[in-house]
Amino acid sequence: MKTTKLVTLVMTIAMTLFILIPNLSWAEDGATLYKAKCAACHGADAAGKPAAKIPSLISDEAKKQSDADLTKGIAETAKHPGAVKSLTGDDTKAIVTYIRSLQK
Ligand code: HEC
Repeated sequence: MKTTKLVTLVMTIAMTLFILIPNLSWAEDGATLYKAKCAACHGADAAGKPAAKIPSLISDEAKKQSDADLTKGIAETAKHPGAVKSLTGDDTKAIVTYIRSLQK
């Protein structure tokens, strides 16, 4: 009987951690953010839409830009909706990291 109680307790703790841990991180995942906030315009592969004058984020030019340049582009591009400009620093950082992974 004692063993059963202990197993139940351990399982309960494991389940609680499993549910809580993903919600503990402050910054959201870059890939999720990119898909939600950028992909509609820049495309899921970040190649942009030349016909609509939306620049590629994986071009040689984009690869040459520093993280600071990209961050500035995200926050200051006149065509960007308010939801993009008001991203927090941590979210922007996560997105820049994700864009770098697409550039490889
Ligand atoms: C409503 C469509 C739209 C959305 C949403 C959008 N962009 Fe853009 N983005 C544009 C357009 C259009 C330009 C080019 C603006 C210009 O030339 O002035 C641009 C330019 C940029 C630039 C500058 C590129 C360069 O070469 O100058 C970066 C970086 C960028 N976007 C990243 C992002 C990221 C990251 C997101 C998501 C957080 C995002 N954009 C969301 C339309 C969008």
